[in-house]
Amino acid sequence: MKAVVLEGPGQASVKDVQERVAADDEVLLQVRMVGLCGSDLNSYRGRNPLVSFPRIPGHEVAATVLDPGSARADWEVGADVTLSPYTNCGRCASCLRGRPNACQFNQTLGVQRDGALTELISVPASRLYRANLSLKELCLVEPLTVGFHAVARGRIAPEDTVAVIGCGGVGLGAVAGAAFRGATVIGVDLDDIKLATASRAGAKHVINTSAAELHTRLAELTDGRGPDVVIEAIGLPQTFRVAVEEVAFTGRVVYIGYAKEHVAYETRLFVQKELDILGSRNALPEDFRDVIRMLESHRFPVEEAVTHLVPMEEAPAILEAWNREPAGFTKIMINVA
Ligand SMILES: NC(=O)c1ccc[n+]([C@@H]2O[C@H](COP(=O)([O-])OP(=O)(O)OC[C@H]3O[C@@H](n4cnc5c(N)ncnc54)[C@H](O)[C@@H]3O)[C@@H](O)[C@H]2O)c1
Ligand SMILES: [Zn+2]
Ligand SMILES: [Zn+2]
Repeated sequence: MKAVVLEGPGQASVKDVQERVAADDEVLLQVRMVGLCGSDLNSYRGRNPLVSFPRIPGHEVAATVLDPGSARADWEVGADVTLSPYTNCGRCASCLRGRPNACQFNQTLGVQRDGALTELISVPASRLYRANLSLKELCLVEPLTVGFHAVARGRIAPEDTVAVIGCGGVGLGAVAGAAFRGATVIGVDLDDIKLATASRAGAKHVINTSAAELHTRLAELTDGRGPDVVIEAIGLPQTFRVAVEEVAFTGRVVYIGYAKEHVAYETRLFVQKELDILGSRNALPEDFRDVIRMLESHRFPVEEAVTHLVPMEEAPAILEAWNREPAGFTKIMINVA
């Protein structure tokens, strides 16, 4: 069967690979469409230390059940599904606490193990989600769950005003998730196109920090108190700090961004404001179910969020183009079958 294989930094090709054999508890799937995100670009560039070559990427998946195996009571041939690309060991502190999304020994599909950019994959039945969605929407479920999980971590409620700093692929999920819970959402970014999509996804206000002063605008929008919750979805030292500076007293700060350098803080603010400062990683099954409900209610601007759709043969070329000019691409999807 055909697969997109990363063979080394900056080297991708479409080749024939060995078909995978489904284990007893696995469901055999025909892959239909796969979405790419920043982590795939990082893998392509050889900058993800968890990825060794050769590796088949792909963890944002729309697929159709070909053979449900021993799960035939729950899954019928022809059902369209998406899936959770994570694993959990069942024994680490996170797993024992019922938070397998943060498993210490997680192996993400397409990162530590071969992923979905191929014709057939097999996956444990427990990782599949059924949904009444198009293939594009099915591929959007996983990337949106990351922001939905941050919203759950921030215990966001209808009375909250929530600032989401960074409205890229991940932040957009936080915008949509907070709006889906009825909160008042303020999208913050440097890019008007990202902010326009954030508005369509549920942000009541947007602030372009290349044109407006963030502190002044947030104060105007919150009667001078600051947002109840700030979600950081970029990963820069400066925006990590801004989150604790701008959040209201006794507010919540949720970090999704991975900072690539050390961050220096005025820690007095943690104490003086009595903040809840929370990390948020990957997503739980309830986040998948919430995103599916949100997409099924057609509240998300799917056509704006997906900027490129190409056949599998063009995957190497579009990876190269994306690598050369990252700003020109928001969400790439690969049509597999
Ligand atoms: N916690 C997790 O489970 C998890 C999962 C996936 C990704 N991430 C992390 O989330 C972060 C965001 O990922 P992404 O794929 O959305 O990235 P992205 O590049 O698509 O989005 C970043 C957004 O931030 C904006 N931005 C950049 N600098 C800014 C600034 N100074 N002020 C305001 N806006 C600014 C950009 O215009 C862009 O819209 C990354 O750090 C990534 O590593 C975390
Ligand atoms: Zn992704
Ligand atoms: Zn674990």
